[in-house]
Amino acid sequence: MKLAVIGTGYVGLVSGVCFTLNGNHVICVDKDQEKISKLNRMESPIYEPGIEALIEMNLREGRLSFSADLQDSVRRSDIVILAVGTPSLPNGEADLRYIEGAAAEIGQAMEGYKIIMTKSTVPVGTNEKIRSMIAAHTNHPFDIVSAPEFLREGSAIQDTLHPDRIIIGLDNPALEDTMRELHKGFTDNVFVTDIRSAEMIKYASNAFLATKISFINEIANICEKVGADVTEVAQGMGMDRRIGSSFLQAGIGYGGSCFPKDTNALIQIAGNVDYEFKLLESVVEVNKGQRFMIISKLHESLGSLRGAVIGIWGLAFKPNTDDVREAPAREIVEALVAEGATVKLYDPIAADNFRQQYDHPNLRWCGLPEEAAAGSDAVCLLTDWSVFKDINLHKLAESMRRQVLIDGRNVYSKEQIEGTGLTYHSVGRPQMGGLSGYSADAVGVV
Ligand SMILES: NC(=O)c1ccc[n+]([C@@H]2O[C@H](COP(=O)([O-])OP(=O)(O)OC[C@H]3O[C@@H](n4cnc5c(N)ncnc54)[C@H](O)[C@@H]3O)[C@@H](O)[C@H]2O)c1
Repeated sequence: MKLAVIGTGYVGLVSGVCFTLNGNHVICVDKDQEKISKLNRMESPIYEPGIEALIEMNLREGRLSFSADLQDSVRRSDIVILAVGTPSLPNGEADLRYIEGAAAEIGQAMEGYKIIMTKSTVPVGTNEKIRSMIAAHTNHPFDIVSAPEFLREGSAIQDTLHPDRIIIGLDNPALEDTMRELHKGFTDNVFVTDIRSAEMIKYASNAFLATKISFINEIANICEKVGADVTEVAQGMGMDRRIGSSFLQAGIGYGGSCFPKDTNALIQIAGNVDYEFKLLESVVEVNKGQRFMIISKLHESLGSLRGAVIGIWGLAFKPNTDDVREAPAREIVEALVAEGATVKLYDPIAADNFRQQYDHPNLRWCGLPEEAAAGSDAVCLLTDWSVFKDINLHKLAESMRRQVLIDGRNVYSKEQIEGTGLTYHSVGRPQMGGLSGYSADAVGVV
């Protein structure tokens, strides 16, 4: 089949590239000419493990191309896939301006029958609006399909090629075979439903996963007060198949381009029909507060942060991506600067993206984790990149001015910390019994 994927971001680029692997010809379209030029030079505009090799292979073999010309690409395709961004408006609602712009252009371009498939996350009823917007510009026939995307940045290729399920929302049953054919080889687990339910499945899924995260973070906060260990609690809970172990890692809360905006959008979707989604409102509230646990723990160990030097490890909202949208690091770093600290930042991939969004004279940009730690009063681990797991913690402690390590992702074990001289705070785990060289009291820095 011939496909045009509109929007060459984290979803569009990965989906487009993966659809070439099961025999389709794909044009990836973006209005950002710079992205298209980069892609034509076989450089990925996003960091996603494995993507550049697939781009190169498929470009060379002629199954993949890149274009900034939406209308020409639509004319040359049977299926047009919408993968443009749907960011948040200030009130939390999804901003549909990119969807609307693309829909109008698709309508203007059409010279024959097309299937329009929406992968972007859109509020319930949006695909019907897309239909009206396209119909306002063309008399040619077309069908609408909702196919929400569930990939995770960092493992996006694997997730696309081997998804748990494909959700297809349609109102023309004749399309089901085409949709199964399009996803052939990815999974047989194709769930076909109506369009509105498909749209809701995406929001409900993200809201549920966000709920799991806020739930375990609240359990972690209680664990700290009652002397339980949340990692043990989560492991024990996860062994119950009704609960499952994923998304039960306590930490500084979720960020990224999806959970924050999709939870807020679902609260708005409910509000628009006079329903107050109280549970989800609490999930969002808990998440907002959780990141500031880092600041409280710094105060606990260092007192005032004025004049303190704080090392930050990790700026991306999660490992294996360069995406810093809604990353907890942003608010944490801003709070540290506001309190008068000097902040030394390190991220293996996302530092440039972070710096484009936020810079300040009190920030020092570091090329190695050890550099961010040297001379610091505390190091805060915010993203669990694997590079941090292998750091020599003895050397780390020696290089610091005061030996405080705040582990916002529960990366280190008791054994790794023991004997290093570090005052170690993690999330929802006890202070590990005041072991020698392990608690704040033991090293006299409180
Ligand atoms: N990023 C994720 O992990 C993820 C996962 C699942 C679903 N989603 C959803 O997928 C959608 C896309 O997300 P993303 O992270 O890939 O966004 P993104 O911001 O990385 O990419 C969107 C791209 O669309 C382009 N664009 C906008 N309007 C256009 C137009 N008229 N013509 C051509 N290109 C246009 C932009 O230039 C941009 O490159 C969103 O609705 C998001 O919620 C994202």
